[in-house]
Amino acid sequence: MIVTAAIPVVRRVVARWRREGRRVAFVPTMGAIHRGHLSLVARARAAADRVVVSIFVNPLQFGPREDFGRYPRPAALDRSALRAADVDLLWRPAARRLYPPAHRTRVRVLDLADVLEGASRPGHFEGVATVVAKLLNVVQPDQLWMGQKDAQQARIVERMVEDLDLPVRVRRAPTVRERDGLALSSRNAYLAPEARRQAVALAQGLAAARALLRRGSRSSAGLRAAVRQVWRRYPQVREDYVAVVDAETLAPVEAVRRRVLVAVAARVGGARLIDNFEWSPR
Ligand code: PAJ
Repeated sequence: MIVTAAIPVVRRVVARWRREGRRVAFVPTMGAIHRGHLSLVARARAAADRVVVSIFVNPLQFGPREDFGRYPRPAALDRSALRAADVDLLWRPAARRLYPPAHRTRVRVLDLADVLEGASRPGHFEGVATVVAKLLNVVQPDQLWMGQKDAQQARIVERMVEDLDLPVRVRRAPTVRERDGLALSSRNAYLAPEARRQAVALAQGLAAARALLRRGSRSSAGLRAAVRQVWRRYPQVREDYVAVVDAETLAPVEAVRRRVLVAVAARVGGARLIDNFEWSPR
């Protein structure tokens, strides 16, 4: 595995691979590598000839009162996990190189970035879209792998890639979960034992909504009520949102007539957690 911080090295190595006719897949991350990230790497590995992973805790996507400072950065563990996963190139850019003081450009995706996570975290998706555009411009992969865990982020990146005519195929990988259903996240490390126990509420609430859909229920209000009913059993869970939106436009829907995204966010103890699933009628 090649490990570098240098943009010219990344450009040179990937350009050579592409000249040789290799298909290149790219998995951007913020590190604290877990099985969710590794499942993206495994899918990328299977779908392409070369796999590039970036680790960059992007300051632009954190709000002033968010966890940028305490976000986990286990550099040596990450490196060995990615080497074991057969990654070809690990790129760890430096913030001062990606965002020199004179940097003045932002990528903003209208509407999609203002709802759900965007409403709770102003500027978050501008930070995500900007960094993903920059990373893509350096790596220039054939495929970009994103996790369903962050469905809104995946949708925004898909929209940006289409809108800016970026020559890359965006692919999504399903959410990897703990045995009790909790979606893997680097932020799960913030959960104290009792909060960890109650964090299962997110997946359980979503399971209740999915069960209703399977039984033919189509009312978005009914689905939201089902999630909240489950959450009443978990006093440490404080709702941020429970939403049923069109999976493509992320606009709220009242009745499920086409593919929807059912997305939730809650504070559990000291952590803010999100989860979701997508569902199509028939
Ligand atoms: P990060 O949270 O490190 O996640 C990197 C990728 O792993 C994202 O595409 C995310 O959706 C995916 N992922 C995280 N947990 C997952 C899980 N349990 N199952 C499947 N996939 C999972 O998302 C980011 O970093 C950043 O916003 C980034 C895109 C790198 C831009 O800075």
